[in-house]
Amino acid sequence: MINPMHGSYIEISQSAYRDNLTYLRSRFGDVRISSVIKGNAYGHGISEIIPIAESCGINHFSVFSADEALASKEVIRNGSTVMIMGDVDGDALEWAVENGVSFYIFESERLELALKAARRTGMKAKIHLELETGMHRTGLAGKELASSLEIIQNNTNLIELKGLCTHYAGAESVSNYLRVQNQIKSFNQKTSELKRKGVRPEIIHTACSAAALSYPETRMDMVRIGIAQYGLWPSRETMMKVITRDWKNADPLKRVISWKSRVMSVKKVKTNEFIGYGNAYLTDAPVKVASVPVGYAHGFSRNLSNLGRVLVNGKRTSVVGIVNMNMMLIDVTSCRDVKKGDEVVLIGSQGRYSVSVSSFSELTNNLNYETLVRIPRNIPRIVVD
Ligand SMILES: Cc1ncc(COP(=O)(O)O)c(C=O)c1O
Repeated sequence: MINPMHGSYIEISQSAYRDNLTYLRSRFGDVRISSVIKGNAYGHGISEIIPIAESCGINHFSVFSADEALASKEVIRNGSTVMIMGDVDGDALEWAVENGVSFYIFESERLELALKAARRTGMKAKIHLELETGMHRTGLAGKELASSLEIIQNNTNLIELKGLCTHYAGAESVSNYLRVQNQIKSFNQKTSELKRKGVRPEIIHTACSAAALSYPETRMDMVRIGIAQYGLWPSRETMMKVITRDWKNADPLKRVISWKSRVMSVKKVKTNEFIGYGNAYLTDAPVKVASVPVGYAHGFSRNLSNLGRVLVNGKRTSVVGIVNMNMMLIDVTSCRDVKKGDEVVLIGSQGRYSVSVSSFSELTNNLNYETLVRIPRNIPRIVVD
């Protein structure tokens, strides 16, 4: 499995993905799932995840930007829908209209551009009206919402209203309970008002993983699921809430990603020697260290210097010294017979042990989301069962 051209590789488990979807569907019931694949499918790889998701019956994908929509269209085989939730402008917007890619409208300027693109291409612009409900990031409110509505209602020959939507600010933490409740209320009020004015969206969607798991009333017609499909929880709080309530302490989600490398070389070092750059690690006994060709240029944070844990020969061992740009050193003194070419697991399981994405994130003070998207795109992704 080790690609000799690269120092490490990513494994994507189809069966874990499949099991996660089965679990999520069992929780959400009869609601459509849009697979959120922004950030290169949260580091898993757009071109690897789309075919797996499609084989599990997913036919709706949410991305942030036009470039991600283009990358998705190149992989989609089942005629699945692509929706841009964030950045699309100028020529890219025209491309989206021409290619049936739907996009959020959160300012009237974009709506005007959509009209122009629809006129030029002869295709209807497929839009989702994003309502401001309290996140104060993007979203239409007040006069701008009213004027956008007028434009939409006067141009039904150019515009197809695919959806009404919003996004919750912090559904992953109970400390935001009130804020989320207010958002839900605001969304429902605004939606009723719009419906009274004759607005007929095809679907209504508001929930990300945390909202869909913790606030069932937010599921509506479609949920936009990112992190949970990859087998990770939006937060520890969400996990505790769900596991203690329904699953009697077993984690129903399975990690889809593993990240593996190999031993590049092994060296013995005497007592009282510094290992690697500077004086970050001083040996207090004779040790055996192995170099691994993964460093901070590959997304293995320098914060893991003297701190990171990896698995080799079925044992858990430590990063020693400073993580370099392209390599790190690990202590293999207690791992018998370690040799060049042996598998090193950075995230994933080996024998009895595993390094979870969360433990990796905690050590680097990152969110799971951030840890995943920091894994560079050029590391080969291999789909396994
Ligand atoms: C608008 C929107 N919807 C859905 C999601 C998916 O969130 P999650 O990965 O927590 O499911 C995101 C991600 O940040 C988002 O920005």
